[in-house]
Amino acid sequence: MQSHWPARLAPLLSLLLSCTGASSLEVQLTESAWPGLEALPVERREVTVEPGLAATVEATTVHEAPVGLALLEGRVVAGTAEGLLVASDDGSPQLSPVVLDAALGVGVGGPVRALAPRQGGGLLVALGDSFLHDYRGRFYVSPLTGQVPFESVHALDASGFNDAEVVWLTLADRALSISASLRASVVLEGHAAPTFAAGAPDGKALLAVEGDLYQAQVSPARALRLLEDVGAVHAAARRDGSLFLATDAGLVERTPAGPLRVTSFREADGNALPVRALAVGAGALHLLAGDRLLALRDGAFVHLGDAPAAEGPRTLAVDARGHAWVGGAGGLVRVRTGDSVTFAQVSPFLQAHCASCHAGAGTDGAPGLPLTDYEGAVLHRDRILARLADPQSPMPPRRVEVLLPEDWSIVARWVDGGMKP
Ligand code: HEC
Repeated sequence: MQSHWPARLAPLLSLLLSCTGASSLEVQLTESAWPGLEALPVERREVTVEPGLAATVEATTVHEAPVGLALLEGRVVAGTAEGLLVASDDGSPQLSPVVLDAALGVGVGGPVRALAPRQGGGLLVALGDSFLHDYRGRFYVSPLTGQVPFESVHALDASGFNDAEVVWLTLADRALSISASLRASVVLEGHAAPTFAAGAPDGKALLAVEGDLYQAQVSPARALRLLEDVGAVHAAARRDGSLFLATDAGLVERTPAGPLRVTSFREADGNALPVRALAVGAGALHLLAGDRLLALRDGAFVHLGDAPAAEGPRTLAVDARGHAWVGGAGGLVRVRTGDSVTFAQVSPFLQAHCASCHAGAGTDGAPGLPLTDYEGAVLHRDRILARLADPQSPMPPRRVEVLLPEDWSIVARWVDGGMKP
């Protein structure tokens, strides 16, 4: 399992605290491949989605379309006009307000305007007229606060780690790129303002401008059109080094090595399905093609079920228990897909990450816990989950290994799916 330690240290060191010293630039991108931008090879494929898979839909306490969904320590958080809400940890579909620490200061509050997951864990939230980020279960005000006209933030994206972290914001009249060393207002010469911007794996960016998709770099200031007529770009997500975009024309994947993969989705009757939302969770990339919920597993798209139909913007998150949460005009619902896990799949995880200390009578001050027997794991399931998700004192201990919800979600999915042997 990869070490997430550098990413988890990030909030105190990163640009979110240091950007105040950055220089500011107005940048007009010129359309040119030179120097530094080349056209990327494009691979296209088409996927036909079979109709009619029932999923159980559960109502939540959010009755308006959330502006964004993300995960916080494996639980769903929803950005709404009433502020930031978080799912309860008892497994029910209820959400309640995130308690913002009094230390944040008087007047921090208001509607959520946008939110974005940070690479390697954590969240960036534009709330009221502040920017917040979390660290180990608490929120902090970022010095980005006061630097951006908040009313006009439509989209927010964070990529890269530590000093190489880059935040892209799209505003009514330009995009803003903020890194530790630079704060640039970006427009494409002769075109309307970008409507979406996201950091690509190689430090360049993908920008949506007038329905086309561009690859861009700030210095030297260049942009190159990669794809025509992708329509609106609705969301970005990252997995296995790739950047994925949800577009009207389908799923666009910017792979780490360069090539672009464009997957378009159709119903059996030939109707094209726009990709309206994306989320990484429970070990896979998930997407909403039309109202169909799909997961990308081992290169194949699996249809998990259908979300209730809704017009307009959609949002999606998949929590550590494998539940999909789908936002839209009717509010937020939780969709149970019946996509469960057996103990045979969970036991290698417990063996690899827990047994060295808890096997037998326990070593290194750890109590003996029979975690790799089926009966023992069933008996101790609540304590196991509680300590995996404990931001203060997680298991395994942080000095040994740092696991993200993404890593341990297999255990939560097993418990939630009825603990199949
Ligand atoms: C490097 C050794 C080490 C590893 C690896 C480790 N633990 Fe622990 N664990 C401890 C120690 C030491 C304690 C007792 C101190 C404490 O509770 O923090 C403990 C306590 C616990 C407890 C509380 C037991 C009780 O009596 O309430 C649980 C539950 C637990 N661990 C689960 C896990 C799980 C699940 C894993 C694997 C994902 C894991 N641990 C991996 C060392 C370890």
